[in-house]
Amino acid sequence: MNDKPEGIVEILIDREAIGRRIAELGREISETYKDRLPLVVGVLKGCALFLSDLVKEIEIPLEMDFISLMSYAHTNRPSGAARITKDLDCVIEGRDVLLVEGIIDTGMTAGYLLRNLEARRPRSIRVCTFLDKEARRIVRIPIAFKGFKIPDRFVVGYGLDFRQLYRNLPYIGILSDEITGLNRR
Ligand code: IMP
Ligand code: MG
Repeated sequence: MNDKPEGIVEILIDREAIGRRIAELGREISETYKDRLPLVVGVLKGCALFLSDLVKEIEIPLEMDFISLMSYAHTNRPSGAARITKDLDCVIEGRDVLLVEGIIDTGMTAGYLLRNLEARRPRSIRVCTFLDKEARRIVRIPIAFKGFKIPDRFVVGYGLDFRQLYRNLPYIGILSDEITGLNRR
């Protein structure tokens, strides 16, 4: 019996490791914002599973909002260009914003978002990413809270997709080269 769905060649981070790391992140974030009321901003859809587990480990009051954008980073359009498809509901001027991402790869999406949100004059803005594919970084992103640094492989699960599939896997898996065609570099 194979417990991995078709296309997953390896479990990179299992659910126990995810749970342990998120408990640590929750403590770090609680400490950083202990006298503040942070606004946790999730970047849809990749953040969904991470954010829902993370906020349960944060022991101070917080607010949540969500933003969604379409990235042109992996097309032949100008680098770093993106379009917001669902904006925040709330005003962030004067707020302490914690931007929560599922993964940062080239950094173009996060770079665009940081520029966009900073223009709204928050009191502070910090980035929390579950995964950091550091080797592929093009745009420098200051990361305040990081779940795991991962190698340059295409991963899915725990909110991350390949063509909208695999988001519901409770672990981070490496997708086969046959499916992505991306890992042959
Ligand atoms: P960026 O290159 O940092 O702008 O990342 C753009 C987006 O590509 C991320 O927010 C993810 O949605 C997606 N992405 C990058 N690497 C992976 C991966 O390994 N698995 C799934 N999605 C990825
Ligand atoms: Mg995706």
